Order: sequence, then structure tokens, then C-alpha cells
Amino acid sequence: MTYVPSKEQMAANAAGLRVTPTGRPLGADIEGFDFEALEARQVAALRAAWLDHGVVRFRRCAISDEQQLRLTAQLGEFVKHPRQLRGEEGAHETHEEILVIGNGRRNGAIFGTMGNAEARWHSDTFIKERPPAAALLRAVTLPRAGGDTWFANMYRVYDELPKHLKRILDGRLIQLDTVWNGPGRLRAGCTAPEGEDFRLWPHIRHPIVRTHGESGRNALYLGAKADSAWIVGLPLDENREILDDLYARVARPDYHWVQVWEPGDMIMWDNRCTMHRRDGWAAEEERVMHRTTTQGEKPYFSH
Ligand code: SIN
Repeated sequence: MTYVPSKEQMAANAAGLRVTPTGRPLGADIEGFDFEALEARQVAALRAAWLDHGVVRFRRCAISDEQQLRLTAQLGEFVKHPRQLRGEEGAHETHEEILVIGNGRRNGAIFGTMGNAEARWHSDTFIKERPPAAALLRAVTLPRAGGDTWFANMYRVYDELPKHLKRILDGRLIQLDTVWNGPGRLRAGCTAPEGEDFRLWPHIRHPIVRTHGESGRNALYLGAKADSAWIVGLPLDENREILDDLYARVARPDYHWVQVWEPGDMIMWDNRCTMHRRDGWAAEEERVMHRTTTQGEKPYFSH
């Protein structure tokens, strides 16, 4: 069969970028990107590849904090994680836009946020009205084993939902509590809500089917796995049944690509149409990652 490169592939080639899809439902490797020059044509081709593949990876590159920051600034407006804004764990020593993730050790104390624990399927910072669009995550220190980051293609999950589920979900909101974080700790500044009925807890609501602000495609948008998530308006038993079903779909390997980290790797994902989770690693091993993020649009739904 004759290979016919796509328009994006041709633009990438012309810009001197090689974009190699992983062969999985999402993800592509990028070669030939010049982090110092940040030439407009290359940045545009990189952006197109990121929009096409959901996650792109720079394999074994020596990227500095400054280069990561400059690239992020080309992609959109910086957004800081709520923890960075409060000057809590995860603050970088010199660059306030960088969130330090992991369990690094300095003078006997742990620095970084999220520790060494496994993280369940989530989209970043769904507790905000405008969750981030791009997240760039760069390996600084890696453990000998573990800490892989898994991605799910949420366009594909949505596209393959049965019609009756699409009818229920299209145009509906999902409510997510803003009190407890993923590992089940109270978010800073929050007090434990009174009452069993989680529908009355402090929350954020987003469209559960979200139209991507740049591609115009619809993706399933779940925020994060939590017992307190509510598809607004559904009776609680139906809510649980549907959310369990949706998460069982997200967990299907045929929607996934996994980033098995190597020294010098940096990945960049689209937080609007992917979910991710990560494996934990041994507590005595260090893993330190530097993350930068850009502002996304307020989620909306359109047919
Ligand atoms: C995250 O959930 O943003 C962190 C992912 C990772 O540490 O691999």
C-alpha cells in the first residue's frame, strides 16, 4: 500500500520534526525539536502533533528547567497548581511555575508533592472552573522500577460508548467534590463536610461530555474516580452503575498507552481529552518530576 502522509505529518517534516505514533490509541514520539531556537514553525508542528495524538514524548533529551518553561510559555498561559499558589509542598526552589512531583529527599526531608503513591485515573485540577490544557512532565530523578504513567484516550472512550449511554450523558454535568483529594486527604483550607449526602458537599460541576476547544471533538470528561462523584440528576443507584461502567471502559487496555520513563524523558499531554494514572514505586527510591501546565478553556458541551 502506498503511504500517504497526513497534512500534519507533512508540516512536521517541513519543520524538521519527526513524529512517530506509538501505534497505540494515543501518543507519539517527537524527534528533531530545537528547544533553544523554539522556531514558530516547529512549535506549530509540535502543537498539531500534540492535538492529534493526545500525548507526545521527547525521548532521552537533556531539557533544562528554563527550556521547559520557555516551551510551555509558547503553548499557552501558565497556570499554577493550587498547592503552588499556597506555597505548599511541590514548590520549586527558584521557578514558581514548576510543580515538583515525587518523593525527592533533601537534608533528610521529603520535597515534592504526591509522594511515591499510586495515583488513580484522573484529569489534572478538575476542581478549577478552567482546568489546564497542556501538562508537560519531565523526569529529573527516576526510581529503578515503577512510576510508569498510563494514559487513556477519552475521545475514543466517548466515541465507542453505546448509543443509550451517549443519550444519557450528552449535555449532562458531573459533580465532583472539592473537599477531598485523590489519596483521601482534606484539601488545604477545607473542613470535613457534615452529612452523608455527598451531593450537598462543596463541589464543582463540569459537562461529563466535553467538547475540545481546539479540535471540536467530544471526549468523556470524568475528573477523577471518587465515590462522591455524581452525574447530576441521576438517582444514586443508576449513578453508581453508570460510573462503574464508565471507569471499567477507561480501564480497558485497548484505550491506553503507557509511558515507561527513561532518563531525560519529557512528555506533554492534553488534559482535555486524556486521563492518566501512575504506578507507585518503592518508598526508599526517589522519583522527582517537574511539571508545568497551561490554562485550558472552561469545559463546555456542543453536539
Ligand atoms: C500527575 O498525575 O500529574 C503525575 C503523573 C506522574 O507522576 O507520573
